[in-house]
Amino acid sequence: MVKHMPTIKHLECSRCKTHVSAEEPRTLCPTCKGSLYVRYDLSPLRGARDDIARQAAKSPWLGMWRYRSVLPEAKPVTLGEGWTPILASKRYPGVLLKEEGANPTGTFKARGLALAVTMARHYGLRKLAVPSAGNAAGALAAYAAAANIEAHIFMPRDVPFANYVEAIAYGANVTLVNGLISDCGRIVAERKDAEGWFDISTLKEPFRVEGKKTMGYELVEQLGWEYPDAVFYPTGGGVGLIGMWKAFDELEELGWVKPGKKPRMVAVQSAGCAPVVGAFEHGKNASEMWEGAKTFAAGLRVPKPYGDSIMLEILRQSGGIALALPDEKILSSLKDWARNEGIFLSPEGAAATAAYAHLLETGYLKPGDRVVLFNTGSGLKYTDVTALAMQIDRPAAA
Ligand SMILES: Cc1ncc(COP(=O)(O)O)c(C=O)c1O
Ligand SMILES: [Zn+2]
Repeated sequence: MVKHMPTIKHLECSRCKTHVSAEEPRTLCPTCKGSLYVRYDLSPLRGARDDIARQAAKSPWLGMWRYRSVLPEAKPVTLGEGWTPILASKRYPGVLLKEEGANPTGTFKARGLALAVTMARHYGLRKLAVPSAGNAAGALAAYAAAANIEAHIFMPRDVPFANYVEAIAYGANVTLVNGLISDCGRIVAERKDAEGWFDISTLKEPFRVEGKKTMGYELVEQLGWEYPDAVFYPTGGGVGLIGMWKAFDELEELGWVKPGKKPRMVAVQSAGCAPVVGAFEHGKNASEMWEGAKTFAAGLRVPKPYGDSIMLEILRQSGGIALALPDEKILSSLKDWARNEGIFLSPEGAAATAAYAHLLETGYLKPGDRVVLFNTGSGLKYTDVTALAMQIDRPAAA
């Protein structure tokens, strides 16, 4: 075994850099309400990369916990998340699709919630609450069931039906709200103290980012410890984008990645809800509330992400871009990848593939550029919304 497991040194505010201890559960920075990052002393792990990879190869399947040496020391609540396939496109040289639909509950949300629930159990928390666009709710419900912790879920009434059914099946307390994730967030904030809920909203606690950072470690390891030229990420709340960038910073601190330029980060949204794109294009440091958000890519319906400033900074630092595609383009990319690659993308994943095609057309990318496109969820979680978009009805019996 690699001997050095990093204990958490402290939590650090992403805004004012205040340090707070991780001895007790934390939500936001007590000084300025910024999101908190987990910081470790990584120095004992410099040089441990190949040992860790060798151990992982010899062990039974570890999933994202192959990176336990750079995660908090706690007994994992696991359902088999992470170490998802990275698939070469049959048509576009250089394009790799990170297939997050292979995760438990069918989306990348499993990574963040596996870690958040692991830490909740570690701290002895009994009641977790989350506002969700849908898939975080399903993932929380599953991991909370596995850990025997209560899950209180608030999501829009019109979430993909699978999200509602899975949350009920896992035994969560589910409330459907007439509104968007922002309205759900308000309800959780209003009720959490009276109810004794711990709020695990996007970027309002430090461990969902920590779980999702494993996507950054993984794609670099799967590329032979090298960076791709660009990473396309369907962006709602931004946890994955922020987590992967943290991973790249850590990989450099650890000396685990071949020296090179960090990838350009490409944040993809739907034209029906594009607050990050709006702020990026206007050179702003924060987004404005997007009114009347509407898209069949349900995970992208986040009208005012809490982590907007962090995302915008990452996009600029990486030399990346934020762009939005109309739902028609997203749907045609979804159909294209299903028919020509055999991959049933989530609408969010199809936003990434549509964005890739668009940026090839504009010349932002060259055909051979090595890019990783995130299919953040399985298309199978969206049969109702995709059927509606494709106008598929079950034929009546003859
Ligand atoms: C399938 C899918 N993709 C992307 C997103 C956006 O994720 P993030 O909040 O990390 O930006 C979500 C969020 O609900 C989602 O469910
Ligand atoms: Zn702060």
